[in-house]
Amino acid sequence: MALAAAPLFAQVGGRAARPKVQRPDGPVWEIIRKNCTACHGIDDYAFYSLDRDGWQKLLADKHKPDGDGLTEADRALLLDWLVSKFGPDTKPFPRTYIPPEITTFFSDPEAQRLMNRACTACHGLDRVGNVRNSADGWRVTLVDMRERGAVLSDQELEQLVEWLARVWGTNQDK
Ligand code: HEC
Ligand code: HEC
Repeated sequence: MALAAAPLFAQVGGRAARPKVQRPDGPVWEIIRKNCTACHGIDDYAFYSLDRDGWQKLLADKHKPDGDGLTEADRALLLDWLVSKFGPDTKPFPRTYIPPEITTFFSDPEAQRLMNRACTACHGLDRVGNVRNSADGWRVTLVDMRERGAVLSDQELEQLVEWLARVWGTNQDK
């Protein structure tokens, strides 16, 4: 099938995809801003799915010997948020997903067919059409969807990333 459009973005070849965690609002963000972000960002939280004890232990283990520096009250609030976002019934973002290079690109009907097969079991495609994102952003969403149960090979995932960034990327206003 030679109907391939040229890719609009450079392949990331060989670099592991990273999660992107959305900042919480209000007091939880204040706690993180004061106690955590001086050293590192919040995206790595998505590599874990732990219960409350697990999160407490992880924070203690990773920050030896000085501890996480939190007051009891702040720790309680932060743990509530961590468990609500990255609790035991969520899937952790994989550390090892390395996007393969793709050399063939989806036509519109091919992309639609894949989404009808792989996405609509859980939600409508309006969920997808409402979002605009860069290729990196789409990749994070699709890896997340796969962790939730969407059936996609690495190759299909990357072809869909390329198509979504081309058709529903951040430069379009349709
Ligand atoms: C003084 C610097 C410092 C502060 C402040 C700090 N961290 Fe860390 N954190 C680290 C370092 C260094 C590591 C890596 C330790 C390791 O892997 O052995 C780490 C690791 C982590 C990890 C594991 C990351 C991974 O990829 O496995 C999490 C989650 C984490 N920190 C959360 C937090 C939270 C939440 C706070 C605030 C309550 C916080 N950190 C505050 C230095 C800090
Ligand atoms: C196993 C169920 C499941 C499948 C299959 C699935 N999704 Fe999702 N999807 C979800 C859930 C649950 C949410 C809501 C997540 C949330 O709100 O945190 C969601 C949300 C989304 C969002 C909105 C995310 C955002 O950042 O606003 C997009 C876009 C999306 N899915 C795309 C897809 C695509 C594309 C596919 C097919 C390749 C797919 N999903 C397949 C369960 C699924």
